Amino acid sequence: MPAGWIAKEIMNLRPVLLLSAAFAASGPLQANPQLAQQRACMACHTVDKKVVGPSYKDVAAKYAGQAGAADKLAEKIVKGGVGVWGAVPMPANPKVSPAEAKQLAEWILSLK
Ligand code: HEC
Repeated sequence: MPAGWIAKEIMNLRPVLLLSAAFAASGPLQANPQLAQQRACMACHTVDKKVVGPSYKDVAAKYAGQAGAADKLAEKIVKGGVGVWGAVPMPANPKVSPAEAKQLAEWILSLK
């Protein structure tokens, strides 16, 4: 088998290898940003800029030190709501399980 063929195969595989390396390197700590992507939260939110909804850092700052904030936000993530940040409502996210919502809320509150 000519060496050139192998080099070509490696080049073809490179994007796949890079992708798996990226996932392996991110590990469990990145699970919540990935979950936020998968659940389309990032269509309306970013970590540090207001888009349709408030930035997650603003949310974290607003609720810093408040007891029960994670549960309150988890419920709002699932059911949606309006009036805390303005007149634009967050629609309900019924595909997000309560456990996922809690994870997302805790991740958001941990941002600084
Ligand atoms: C269609 C746009 C949209 C999507 C999708 C969306 N949000 Fe929101 N989100 C908003 C808006 C708008 C608000 C502000 C609501 C308000 O003022 O009460 C908000 C508010 C929030 C808040 C703050 C709630 C509060 O009461 O202070 C959190 C936390 C949040 N979103 C998390 C999420 C998560 C997690 C997801 C994904 C499961 C998500 N959002 C998906 C638009 C969206």
